Amino acid sequence: MFKASHVCGLVLVVFLLALPAFAGHGGERPAKKGILLVAFGTTVPEARTALDHIDARAKARFPGLEVRWAYSSRIVREKLAAQGLSFDSPAMALARMMDDGFTHVAVQSLQTIPGEEFHGLQKTAQAFSGLPKGMDAVTLGLPLLAEPEDVEACARAVMASLPAERKAGEAVILMGHGTHHPANIYYPGLQYFLGRIDPLVLVGTVEGAPSLDDVRRVLRERKVSRAYLVPFMAVAGDHAMNDMAGDENDSWKSVLTADGVTCVPVLRGTAENQAFVDIWLDHLQAALERLP
Ligand code: CO
Repeated sequence: MFKASHVCGLVLVVFLLALPAFAGHGGERPAKKGILLVAFGTTVPEARTALDHIDARAKARFPGLEVRWAYSSRIVREKLAAQGLSFDSPAMALARMMDDGFTHVAVQSLQTIPGEEFHGLQKTAQAFSGLPKGMDAVTLGLPLLAEPEDVEACARAVMASLPAERKAGEAVILMGHGTHHPANIYYPGLQYFLGRIDPLVLVGTVEGAPSLDDVRRVLRERKVSRAYLVPFMAVAGDHAMNDMAGDENDSWKSVLTADGVTCVPVLRGTAENQAFVDIWLDHLQAALERLP
């Protein structure tokens, strides 16, 4: 004989099982996960091969996930648009992904340090996370140098990608961007770990500390007569071509040559080196794992 309480229990269970179907109010969207890679961008066509490399590595490491791109620099996007090349801003790329039915997106910053560019991107990603009728979740992967262990890993990546032809007594000078933002501290931080491995691998920056003069002082003290100049930026773009390796009097090459140092510029961005790309993609994996 049925008892009323059993029937009530059954009805309740059936109702609870059916609940998730009602939770979405008007049509559940199927989950669709994607990746958005965000670089500052570059107007130098040859420098874009570095970004193509990271694109290929990301697709190989995360098969089955669509990889899209955005450039965070408006100036770069405008210059490229004038050449007929269209690149999305991070906000535009996320809006498109939202329209294209993506529900979960991991955004990966291809910046070097968590400075102004990164924090701008963080705000954009946050704004898109949980918009009504928008995406369920947007997470953001950290730049190359973020957590303390990144700085040591990056020092090892630098050592793994030194010019093979370098001889004893020759210096390698990394040109970082540098910034007035407190995150500039990562550059002297990297110098600290590099100095413990190889005192002739030096970090300088265009806009922060250490400066070119800091680098020149070490070169003088250690009587260095030959140095490789290597960009410590994702791409060997405008700063590498002009500020580092250009022929103007104030380029690093010209200043150091006047100091009596023979300079060998290496026009290759960190995004072209697997050792650095692995760090970025580890951060992307962490961002993917943070998606609900
Ligand atoms: Co700049």
